[in-house]
Amino acid sequence: MNLYGSENDLGVDRDGKPVPAKNRVFQNRVAFITGSSRGIGSSIAREFAHCGADVVITNRKRSGSSEAKGKKLCEEISEEGGRAILVNCDISQKKSVKKAISDAKAHFGRLDFLILNAARAPFKPIETLFERELKDLVNTNYLGHIFCIQESIPLLEKTQGKIVFISSLGSRFYNPSYPLGSMKAAMESVVRDCSESLREKKILVNGVCGGLVKTDSFKTMRLYWEGIEQLPDDLFMEPEEIADAVIFLCGPASRGIRGQTLVVDRGLSNSLFYPVLQ
Ligand SMILES: NC(=O)c1ccc[n+]([C@@H]2O[C@H](COP(=O)([O-])OP(=O)(O)OC[C@H]3O[C@@H](n4cnc5c(N)ncnc54)[C@H](OP(=O)(O)O)[C@@H]3O)[C@@H](O)[C@H]2O)c1
Repeated sequence: MNLYGSENDLGVDRDGKPVPAKNRVFQNRVAFITGSSRGIGSSIAREFAHCGADVVITNRKRSGSSEAKGKKLCEEISEEGGRAILVNCDISQKKSVKKAISDAKAHFGRLDFLILNAARAPFKPIETLFERELKDLVNTNYLGHIFCIQESIPLLEKTQGKIVFISSLGSRFYNPSYPLGSMKAAMESVVRDCSESLREKKILVNGVCGGLVKTDSFKTMRLYWEGIEQLPDDLFMEPEEIADAVIFLCGPASRGIRGQTLVVDRGLSNSLFYPVLQ
């Protein structure tokens, strides 16, 4: 027995072809991942599909480059024998979240995993943010996740589902140009609180606090974080490492973990001290 079950115990797919244990661990389960047409979210979506789940990929803006990337990811997953749909979802708009969850339900009929991955924030000190930027910060990175949780509860309750929030080291360490960190810290508290308030509904809530990944947001972050690129290469993570931790938290082996945010950062935070990098 390993994380995915016995390697010798081969199941079959919808056409009766043998499927290895890893590709069956989430067979007939449905994962909804916010902000998943690119970056870490797309790796999480791919990994769920590799584990046999049906995947709901979401993009924020209609007809932008993210929509094109989302469509490509859906095609890629279906070419590999999986099932994926792309739905539009701006998490900062409750109506949009409601519609996206209802589209997912209409298509797949159930929901097992809600992955709160989407994020967007300016890189500048929090005290310099304009009112509009502050409202966007909170609407997207706090309220947006709560909207997703609220709308998913009726479906997750039926499947004893799981919620995983994607946090970052900004929740614990100071960075002058990272107001998103305060939202991540607030959400880590929400992870703890919802893990208890949703206990009776048998919905498990946890988080993954990831280290540095060279995605689109990193390209902007490095402009504001002098010295960051002097970090040794082996402290930068692959997005798949965060995806693997999410898969672990959604799988049976994590059943004893509740309300926790696991740090998955290759040990970067063991020695992270901002002034050293200035
Ligand atoms: N990169 C890192 O070093 C790092 C480290 C630790 C944790 N994280 C966390 O991991 C997650 C993904 O990061 P990333 O680096 O992959 O980010 P990214 O490349 O900037 O992608 C952000 C994603 O969030 C989506 N998004 C933004 N605003 C949204 C909204 N209002 N509604 C719905 N979706 C929205 C974007 O959608 P569109 O493409 O449609 O705009 C995009 O798919 C974030 O929570 C981030 O804080 C990142």
